[in-house]
Amino acid sequence: MIKPRSHVLTEQEVENNKQRIIALYQATQREGIDGLIEWLLTTDFFTAPASCRLGNHNCEVGGLADHCLNVYNIFEEMLKGYEGRGGIRPDESIIASLSHDLCKIGYYVPNPGWKGTGSTGELDRPYIRREDVLGPGGVNALSNHSRKSLEMASRFIRLTQNESLLIEWHMGRFDDDTGWVENSDRVLKILPAVDIFQEADYKVFTDIDYRPPGAREQFLKYIHKRKA
Ligand SMILES: [Fe+2]
Ligand SMILES: [Fe+2]
Repeated sequence: MIKPRSHVLTEQEVENNKQRIIALYQATQREGIDGLIEWLLTTDFFTAPASCRLGNHNCEVGGLADHCLNVYNIFEEMLKGYEGRGGIRPDESIIASLSHDLCKIGYYVPNPGWKGTGSTGELDRPYIRREDVLGPGGVNALSNHSRKSLEMASRFIRLTQNESLLIEWHMGRFDDDTGWVENSDRVLKILPAVDIFQEADYKVFTDIDYRPPGAREQFLKYIHKRKA
């Protein structure tokens, strides 16, 4: 079982994650995968944070790539418990896990006003959203987080139906704007593994990704209050 990290990613770990992601993508041997990798190398994918507030998950250099690898590892672990891996091929698991949050590429920029106090408060953010600075544009014109990721991955590879469903519905039950309520029966009938993927992403978000000492407890209290 993967344990949460108790330290911010080191430079070496950021580099190791980058090499691991490239190797996994290459292992899929899918048409267009080299183009996807080449493009990723021109973006901030390997150094971007996964969120902009210290109390949120993996708000650190390399946090986004690390989050995606964590989702891959946990999803793989979970699939082992299902007959026939829930119908998900190994290359589909790699592509869906590593690509589900491509929408966060170029999404965060360092916050010039950040005082670096280390506080996890709502207003103390090392990063801010680019669109808050520059206004919406490019792929950010697509409002939906998951569809942005789908669009970005589809520029390079022809996604399988499983990959599309996993990426498109990964936020499902955790985001009221996705249309999950109206679509969940239909989607889960086609691909029950969407449920496992949502769970893997959520588990990584809540229990595995890095948060400074004390922040996870604070966050879980907040989540439980919201659910109550
Ligand atoms: Fe996401
Ligand atoms: Fe995610």
